Amino acid sequence: MRILSVVGARPQFVKLAPIAHAMRGRAEHLIAHTGQHYDEIMSEVFFRDLDIPAPDFNLGVGSGKHGAQTGAMLAGVEEIIESTAPDCVLVYGDTNSTLAAALAATKLHVPVAHLEAGLRSFNRRMPEEHNRVLTDHSADLLLAPTQVAMGHLATEGLAARSILVGDVMTDVLFTVRESLNETGAVLPDGLVPGGYYIATIHRPDNTDGPVRLAAIIGELASLDKPVLLLAHPRLRNLAEKHGISLEQGSIVLSSPLAYPELINAAMNSAGVITDSGGLQKEAFLLRVPCTTIRPETEWVETVDLGWNVLVSENLHQLAATVHRPAPESTDAAPYGDGHAAERSVAALLATFGPQSANRL
Ligand code: UD1
Repeated sequence: MRILSVVGARPQFVKLAPIAHAMRGRAEHLIAHTGQHYDEIMSEVFFRDLDIPAPDFNLGVGSGKHGAQTGAMLAGVEEIIESTAPDCVLVYGDTNSTLAAALAATKLHVPVAHLEAGLRSFNRRMPEEHNRVLTDHSADLLLAPTQVAMGHLATEGLAARSILVGDVMTDVLFTVRESLNETGAVLPDGLVPGGYYIATIHRPDNTDGPVRLAAIIGELASLDKPVLLLAHPRLRNLAEKHGISLEQGSIVLSSPLAYPELINAAMNSAGVITDSGGLQKEAFLLRVPCTTIRPETEWVETVDLGWNVLVSENLHQLAATVHRPAPESTDAAPYGDGHAAERSVAALLATFGPQSANRL
């Protein structure tokens, strides 16, 4: 059986890692990279550090407006599907690369499987929300990370195509954490365990308007410990455009980190401040308190269990929220047991493999 994975942006490389490993010896696995993310630190380091085979195709699409970027990827993935004739196309998460690949496959009558299906923020201002909803409704197999995601899929009439596999980000985090224990990774210069926070900010709603971005940076700068700010290219570009300095007060400005270094920095920090989806969950899995600068989250379990607090309109509450006491300890495991990738590959084989009764 031949499976084509299409990825393009940083969080997708992380999700691809355990899937690529679980595919070994079970299916012919081709990888197409759209080129949505292209900087060394946003792309190549993930393939290297997480032992992912080099992509078989790279479309080199790069940055652009949503329509132009998604359209270029749609046209490019169509060519790849036609030339490789996969039995199934596997798409990941909620980026423009996800939607483009799902559309390309659907229009060529090639089955689509969506990993991380069923997440909803119910905020239609987010490009990721459009991508999730449209991808889920075009896909033939929905691989859901959580029970809450299964519930959303059922509400939208998609239960018959859905299966709960767990979260592949748990798989990769557990593996990397174990390797860190063996190798003893070091922290960035000048930081000591428990003596700093880490922060990431890149969502359009937080970065694109100068007033809001300046307010967020001002709040980070006034926290009581150094704040390691891992600046996504979007943040650097927009801060420069708006004339906002990222090097203020407590902020220690840094490039994004490779995945093992990120996990090491997060697990030794006093807290995480972010608007990233993945990092909210990584903080929870590492039992580090998280503060999320968004009005809502897809990962509601982190909030319900007390490990994540949302701050959005009232940015002046950020400091008090970050400085709050540690939450109740918990052994809840809403994101699975670290074997989601194996379950996902088994579901792909059962649904689209040679023995399957469902082959289109
Ligand atoms: C994308 C995803 C988002 C995900 C994020 C993770 C969409 C709609 N959004 O957002 O869901 O959380 O990736 O990082 O797909 N840039 C570079 N170098 C790079 C990549 C991007 O300089 O390697 C700059 C570009 O100038 C671009 C900006 O970053 O203007 C944004 O890149 P883009 O791919 O449009 O979306 P992200 O904001 O990264």
